Amino acid sequence: MTAVPEEAASMLRDGGLVAFPTETVYGLGADAFQPAAVRRIFEAKERPANNPLIVHLHARAQLLEVAASVPPVAEDLMGQFWPGPLTLIFPKHPDLPTVVTAGLETVGVRMPRLPLTRRFLAACDTPVPAPSANRSGRPSPTHWRAVAADLDGRIECILQGGRTEAGVESTVVDCTTAPPAVLRPGAISVEAVRECVGRVRVATPDDRTAPRSPGTQHRHYAPAAQVRLVDTPADAVPASTHAYIGLAPPARPEAFGRTHVAADCAAYAHDLFHYFRACDAAGMEIIFAQTVPPAGLGRALNDRLRRAAAR
Ligand code: TXA
Ligand code: MG
Repeated sequence: MTAVPEEAASMLRDGGLVAFPTETVYGLGADAFQPAAVRRIFEAKERPANNPLIVHLHARAQLLEVAASVPPVAEDLMGQFWPGPLTLIFPKHPDLPTVVTAGLETVGVRMPRLPLTRRFLAACDTPVPAPSANRSGRPSPTHWRAVAADLDGRIECILQGGRTEAGVESTVVDCTTAPPAVLRPGAISVEAVRECVGRVRVATPDDRTAPRSPGTQHRHYAPAAQVRLVDTPADAVPASTHAYIGLAPPARPEAFGRTHVAADCAAYAHDLFHYFRACDAAGMEIIFAQTVPPAGLGRALNDRLRRAAAR
């Protein structure tokens, strides 16, 4: 555990696993060019071996260490959204160890925006593959304590930041297809991506023809409590072991074990995974979660809610 990015970076360079904050959620990183260290990410998370990792960079100059080529549409997206919560899929560089991409011929890459992350990645001075720093299937960590709860004893270091800003993961856009395809909705809206590059396909979970993010097939983001989706708070069933989260307040909040009303979608996303974990700690058995209008950040929010509720 450290708050000093250079210390954390030196552990990573020594082959260690380091969890670090970003503007979306905490990631669990290793040196891309030490395959044995990258394999340990999968072990620590109990992550299926077919789920590729996102490689994190601090400088554009590193891109051609991991990607074989850069499609023009990616230039436009990087120009507008990097550094920031946008992951782009490129053809993979032949020298990048295959464990990073789970055997795929493509690689996901992003450049985080949070200053602490950038200092850490600069000190690493190597591309850093990093999935979210939770045990596979659990809610993504938005605080270092959530990382510790899931991974203590399995990793070398946690770089401590505060709560993460977005609370949902990056948007993943495949730039190897025409038109480009959003594989995972995230912190940058589909509308903003479309405004930047024109036509964009949005891959839905049941779209069998779309190129898909293997990670989006799994049940995910789930607390121990059962998650049930509701359109309005009136559909949530009050009880002392039931919780509610949504944009609209329930009529009788005191009839629930816990309630959380978010001011807007950004606040809802910021708080969702944190709330899931708090409900588990408080012994809640069912969490009723209100779905939101499917625009802007609402798409990412509904996606995470649906996956958390899947059985
Ligand atoms: O915000 C984020 O993206 C966070 C922070 C730590 O950067 N990371 C994150 O990683 O959410 P992870 O591993 O939890 O999710 C990565 C997603 C998965 O759905 C994975 O399948 C997809 O990105 N992905 C990675 N590489 C891919 C590739 N080459 N082709 C298609 N999908 C890919
Ligand atoms: Mg994840």
